[in-house]
Amino acid sequence: MSHHFVRFSDVHYSYPDGTEALKGVCFTITHGERVAILGLNGCGKSTLLLHTNGLLLPSQGEVNVGDVPVTKKTLPVVRRAVGMVFQNPDDMLFMPTVYDDVAFGPRNMKLPEKEVERRVKGGG
Ligand SMILES: Nc1ncnc2c1ncn2[C@@H]1O[C@H](COP(=O)(O)OP(=O)(O)OP(=O)(O)O)[C@@H](O)[C@H]1O
Ligand SMILES: [Mg+2]
Repeated sequence: MSHHFVRFSDVHYSYPDGTEALKGVCFTITHGERVAILGLNGCGKSTLLLHTNGLLLPSQGEVNVGDVPVTKKTLPVVRRAVGMVFQNPDDMLFMPTVYDDVAFGPRNMKLPEKEVERRVKGGG
C-alpha cells in the first residue's frame, strides 16, 4: 500500500437517527503534511476522523488511504496504516496493565507472542 495520501471525495455521512454529519467533504492530505482540523462543537470533526480507518463508512462518496479505497473488505489493510487515539481515554485504555493495553492491537492481529513482546517493549 502506498501511504502517500488520505483523500476524501464527496463524502457524505448520516447517522442512523438521520443526523447529516458530513455533506460532501473533499480534501487530500499528502505525505509529510501535518493538518489540524478545527471547528465548532458538533461540526463533524470526529465523524470525519472515524472515516479515515473505516470505523464509519461513507453513506455516499469515497475515502482513500493511499491507493486503497476504505471499504469493509480493505479494513485489515487500512487499519494497519491508520491508528486512532480517542478523545475519551475510557474508550482507549481498558486493559488491567499498560503492557496488556499496548499488546491489545498486536494480539488482535494474531501476531506470535514473541513479536507482541518485541513491539510492546519497543526498540524497532
Ligand atoms: N452517534 C451519533 N448519533 C447521532 N448523531 C450523532 C452521533 N455522533 C455525533 N452525532 C451528531 O453528528 C454531528 C457531528 O458530530 P461530531 O461528534 O462529529 O462533531 P465534533 O466536531 O467532533 O464535535 P466535538 O467538538 O464536540 O468533538 C453533530 O450534530 C452530532 O450531534
Ligand atoms: Mg469530536
